[in-house]
Amino acid sequence: MKGIVLAGGKGTRLYPCTNVISKQLLPIFDKPMIYYPISTLMLGGIREIIVISTPYDIVQYQKLLGDGSQWGLSLNYCIQEQPLGIAQAFILTKEKLDGNSVCLILGDNLFYGKLDFFRNAIKNFQKSTIFAYEVENPQDYGVVILDKNKNPIDIIEKPKTYVSKFAIPGLYLFDERVYEYAQSLKPSLRGELEITDLQKIYLEKGDLNVEIIGRGVAWLDTGTPSNLIDAALFIRAIEQRQGRKVACLEEIALNLGFITLSDYVSWVEKMPESDYKKYCLKILEDHYG
Ligand code: DAU
Repeated sequence: MKGIVLAGGKGTRLYPCTNVISKQLLPIFDKPMIYYPISTLMLGGIREIIVISTPYDIVQYQKLLGDGSQWGLSLNYCIQEQPLGIAQAFILTKEKLDGNSVCLILGDNLFYGKLDFFRNAIKNFQKSTIFAYEVENPQDYGVVILDKNKNPIDIIEKPKTYVSKFAIPGLYLFDERVYEYAQSLKPSLRGELEITDLQKIYLEKGDLNVEIIGRGVAWLDTGTPSNLIDAALFIRAIEQRQGRKVACLEEIALNLGFITLSDYVSWVEKMPESDYKKYCLKILEDHYG
């Protein structure tokens, strides 16, 4: 399965912070936001990833992430000229990914905890899969209505009245039909190709699987200034308590065998003096010394 990180959009809710910098480049405590969704894909075993962003910002992502080989990844880049909707990601990547099942993660979605729900969904992938997560504010998300057997009945983007407590996180697994289905979508009233409309195509065909993510996993939103600081404090609290970093891509790559120990050492040696470098060196001493 291949991966897409969608890191475009206008970031208007974070204005003026996002006036000249892409939202997904803003820091969540000690690393750029986009490190977190990339780490999620890596932990799911996905190594071929396309990063999508605006014509203005894509250069910054290329500078930050390179070709991904330092993490044993293959990173490619794709421009979204206008933010015409999340589902447009599949139209943009059709040429590169056609024929492949794909996992799309939104560049502002952060998951923390045991990611077995994700790994299992990839391992047992037969049907396109979305996830459901109980939240206090479902009206801010796409939501899925489940029957008493936890089968999906309907999907609604930002419902005005309460219909379900289950929000749909920005992490989706689709089969190879997604490119064709995305092309059949019509823009919504707000002028976007809605990811929920794509999910509904699968739902109507009886081809959509919904997995509930338990409360032992944290799914954090980074959409508003308050969400952003909450996410940063959450990550800081865990990192300071454990002395281990969340979403340190070098550490994940080494532990998963995506890179060799000597690749790791030569990459870390090139890092500027920083706490991040000290941490990467500490990992070496602790586990490989
Ligand atoms: O976070 C999960 C939610 O993400 C889902 O529950 C919703 O169904 C889904 O529509 C989306 O809702 P948001 O209100 O968060 O969507 P937003 O327009 O903020 O876009 C999410 C991210 O995707 C954001 O970081 C920017 C990026 N994006 C968005 C659009 C519409 C793009 O890169 N390009 C786009 O065209």
